[in-house]
Amino acid sequence: YLNYRVPRTRRDIFQTLIKGLQRLEYRGYDSAGVAVDGSGKDHAASISLYKKTGKVKALDEEIYKNNGIDFEAELDTHFGIAHTRWATHGEPSPVNSHPHRSDKNNEFVVIHNGIITNYKELRKYLVSKGYEFESETDTEVIPKLIKYLYDNRENEYVSFSTLVERVIKQLEGAFALVFKSIHFPGEAVATRRGSPLLIGVRCQYELSTEQIPVQYNCGKSGSLHPFFSNQCCSLEVSLSHTIAIIEHTNKVIYLEDDDVAVVMEGKLYVHRIKRKAGEDPVRVIQTLQMELQQIMKGNFKAFMQKEIFEQPESVVNTMRGRICFDSNTVILGGLSDHLKEIKRCRRLILIGCGTSYHAGVATRQILEELTELPVMIELASDFLDRITPVFRDDVCFFISQSGETADTLMALRYCKQRGALTVGVTNTVGSSICRETDCGVHINAGPEVGVASTKAYTSQFVSLIMFALMLSEDRLSMQQRRLEIINGLKKLPELIKEVLALDDQIKSIADELHHQRSLLVMGRGYNYATCLEGALKIKEITYMHSEGIMAGELKHGPLALIDKHMPVIMIIMRDACYKKCHNALQQITARQGRPIILCCQDDPEISKMAYKTIELPQTVDCLQGILSVIPLQLISFHLAVLRGYDVDCPRNLAKSVTVE
Ligand code: F6R
Repeated sequence: YLNYRVPRTRRDIFQTLIKGLQRLEYRGYDSAGVAVDGSGKDHAASISLYKKTGKVKALDEEIYKNNGIDFEAELDTHFGIAHTRWATHGEPSPVNSHPHRSDKNNEFVVIHNGIITNYKELRKYLVSKGYEFESETDTEVIPKLIKYLYDNRENEYVSFSTLVERVIKQLEGAFALVFKSIHFPGEAVATRRGSPLLIGVRCQYELSTEQIPVQYNCGKSGSLHPFFSNQCCSLEVSLSHTIAIIEHTNKVIYLEDDDVAVVMEGKLYVHRIKRKAGEDPVRVIQTLQMELQQIMKGNFKAFMQKEIFEQPESVVNTMRGRICFDSNTVILGGLSDHLKEIKRCRRLILIGCGTSYHAGVATRQILEELTELPVMIELASDFLDRITPVFRDDVCFFISQSGETADTLMALRYCKQRGALTVGVTNTVGSSICRETDCGVHINAGPEVGVASTKAYTSQFVSLIMFALMLSEDRLSMQQRRLEIINGLKKLPELIKEVLALDDQIKSIADELHHQRSLLVMGRGYNYATCLEGALKIKEITYMHSEGIMAGELKHGPLALIDKHMPVIMIIMRDACYKKCHNALQQITARQGRPIILCCQDDPEISKMAYKTIELPQTVDCLQGILSVIPLQLISFHLAVLRGYDVDCPRNLAKSVTVE
């Protein structure tokens, strides 16, 4: 965060940084740190570092405990960096948290998102040059390396950005980096490769330009041409998400791999060492559509709860402007240019991780039915491990709420290399997956802050159904089925509201279950994905053991788990699998199991065999999973609250998993 020529107190600077971190906390939160200009008269000649294990609040308290800080001092130019960490290398501790420093004088400090794969070699080299390391992280090689390059520079004058360019030439892996140095006071340098990085721009006046040119080969000469005048008073750099900066500005620039962005004296420069053929020589200033209130909790206890209750609106936003209910047509604008190619393809491959993968499981059957194409569903990590054969006439979908999940992104690059058409299904405009796919569908669910994904799942689900509808538009034999689904989609928001109205009943079931250690979720057909997704929600936020079981597999093993003590939730809706599910139910009750059953309203046959029922409105079979997942989202939320856990920040997890 850099502010230029608008005097601010040191308290304001801390508050801005801490607030930004708090907004990002859901993405990773085992420690946090800030680096700001020092407290002396010439404040930029020294750097103060504050780091703390735990949540951002602990860091905030630590700063305010520090009596040596003159909070009311007014500074004209100041530059602070802040980071919240989710441990990959080294346990959560102050010394392992960012910013990392070059030496005890904090000559260079760096924050990093991503992973440096060749850090061991670099560390060994720097140790041989006399550098002492204090942390176990991969990041620490970066400030040490820049200091080494600075100390061994050939000319007295070397620009900060030139040093950064030299550093990134040595780095392998993925990174978004922001540098600060006492040798370059009031200057900020940021760069990326493989990890997302965006710059928020705030000016006192209207911006006079909508894009800034990239400059080449200018790092050495220092002859950069600025593209904002001195009116530009403030820069916010967010390593990963718009959420940290939306309250300051809605104007952003997404940097590309190997861009080096410099802010100096209120001016912003973006440059690269060399121009590659076909490369866009400008970076566009984009306007975010996000509103601050979208990322506030309102009256809800947790973001997850708020997001569950937003689903009647979020699914409408996913469909808005895409389905014409009068003509029964579906148009996904982001795919229109590639429709012919998609229709000619030999198979569809749906790739994702966690909840996003489950959205693929949930929609596979209807995609197969309506497109009559083979559909493969793949966990991104396993897909890569298997070096899965991919062909030029495959269409590969990359499903990702964040659009930044490393495994999914790697799978995307793998498929691109093999010439397949790549389609993004993401919730984050401007994310890496959005930008790197050939075309895509934005699910428009609005920002999802709770670590446990909820509304993104139902919007991914609806998006994939819309894709199947769009692809089957000219198939006469499918028209009746398409009509039924389109009518079902129209009624969906009202039905979601009906399910949400069951919240009190669901809470009372959670009251009964919250002391249990395990919870099995069983179903099949269209509702198998609900079992997987429900079990994932339960394990990630309640820390109970939970398994989603395909009911058809019951007698092949899981039945051994059943007795009168094992809590089981079964999903038995009136669809093609109803009879088979009924058989599974009999097998459970015959072993004294006492199932809680999610079933359709007015189903006495099922109710009489259930320990408890949660009765859901009925919709078209292929949409039923959108309704059946909601009670499981709610149950996991209530269980986590009753067990005393922080719903939005489950231990060991982060919202956006940008490492493999
Ligand atoms: C579970 C959850 C994760 C994510 C997974 C993929 O509630 O949130 O399983 O679904 O990490 O993340 P995205 O969708 O951002 O690629």
